[in-house]
Amino acid sequence: MLDFIPEEVTWAILIFIIIYLLRVILTPKEIVVPPVRPKKPTYEKRDYSLSEIKKYDGNTTGEPIFIAIKNKIYDVSAKSSTYGAGGSYHLFSGNDATVCLAKSSFEQADINQPWSEESIKQLSADQQDTLNNWIQFFSERYPIVGNVKDENSVVDNDDKPKIEEVDEDEKKSN
Ligand code: HEM
Repeated sequence: MLDFIPEEVTWAILIFIIIYLLRVILTPKEIVVPPVRPKKPTYEKRDYSLSEIKKYDGNTTGEPIFIAIKNKIYDVSAKSSTYGAGGSYHLFSGNDATVCLAKSSFEQADINQPWSEESIKQLSADQQDTLNNWIQFFSERYPIVGNVKDENSVVDNDDKPKIEEVDEDEKKSN
């Protein structure tokens, strides 16, 4: 069909195409490296109040992401795609997710919902199991930053250190 093209020209075109394809295949692609969070924690391991962890809500790049569950604060920064802005579980970030996780709820009203050992005992057995399973999940997967210390006494938990009660009779006898 293309008899009018000299054989040398056909070969030249073929070689050109082969060289072009080889270049496309062999040229290293530009690798886009997503921003990496610092490996070393940028926060202190200590107890935080619920209002203090609010700023670790995954909305600020470079800041860690915290979630409080039953008095423990977990650093979930490793899963920023899930807990950072736009992530499926971003709503838990910077918050106490205890009641949400127990009730399998995404309701705004359940986020930071006050709870106590007593209120947890009032939940159904299934909900208590669900909560315990989540606690196990988070504690196996994410580092614990510290405990919740709440200046607003939102969380009334038996784990909290108690002020020793002084026996009035004993005091008088001393
Ligand atoms: C239709 C219902 C649901 C579907 C289809 C679903 C789907 C998923 C999927 C695919 C993952 C894995 C995500 C990943 O590894 O990035 C996941 C993880 C998770 N889900 Fe759900 N989910 C549902 C309901 C819920 C509910 C009701 C809750 C709690 C209120 C919940 C809390 C979580 C949590 C905390 C994780 C762990 C994320 C992690 O740290 O790796 N999910 N879910």
